Amino acid sequence: MGKEPITSKYIEVRESDIHGTGVFARIKVPKGKKVIEYIGEKITKKESERRSIALIEKNQGSETDGAVYIFEVNKRHDIDGNIPENTARFINHSCEPNCEPDVIKNRVWLISTRKIKEGEELSYNYGFDLDGYEDHECKCGAKKCVGYITADDNWPKLKKRLAKKKKKEKKEKKKADEGKNKSKKKAKK
Ligand SMILES: C[S@@+](CC[C@H](N)C(=O)[O-])C[C@H]1O[C@@H](n2cnc3c(N)ncnc32)[C@H](O)[C@@H]1O
Ligand SMILES: [Zn+2]
Repeated sequence: MGKEPITSKYIEVRESDIHGTGVFARIKVPKGKKVIEYIGEKITKKESERRSIALIEKNQGSETDGAVYIFEVNKRHDIDGNIPENTARFINHSCEPNCEPDVIKNRVWLISTRKIKEGEELSYNYGFDLDGYEDHECKCGAKKCVGYITADDNWPKLKKRLAKKKKKEKKEKKKADEGKNKSKKKAKK
């Protein structure tokens, strides 16, 4: 028989508006609480790298990022949370999260970073780097959502890149419109 998914008094699992399945506060959660443990298979860094590469290769071109379940525990070990018992794997990313992962005595916990109301969706920042950010569009719906899933340290760089991209697209559109107008004028003559 398979093992039961772990739970905590604070959580319930249901459909999310952000993406697929999400985890929600079943009751009020005070700030600084261990909301749920992020459990998984303890693996070496070497194995972790091998799994990440294999999953990224497998998922190339698809919307899922294979490495999202791997967490750093210490310098020697990671945990791979991609196991059915790990309920915390359903927690979605948000640009304005209410939890953060923390390693306490070699165990990973999701800790509430503020008071959470009953029924609120739990979230944390996945902390992705900026490489390939286009593959991870963010649908968190927060007021300050930056549009892509990435660590907040990367936000200034991301905003610059997005502004540059927008400027380039505007310039290209202007050029294309000018080209269209020219051919219209030629056709009139
Ligand atoms: C660890 S799973 C989270 C649980 C997921 N909702 C599910 O049903 O399996 C991570 C995946 O959920 C999706 N996801 C999580 N947060 C998201 C967000 N803010 N915007 C868009 N997709 C998100 C992405 O596809 C991401 O690769
Ligand atoms: Zn967002």
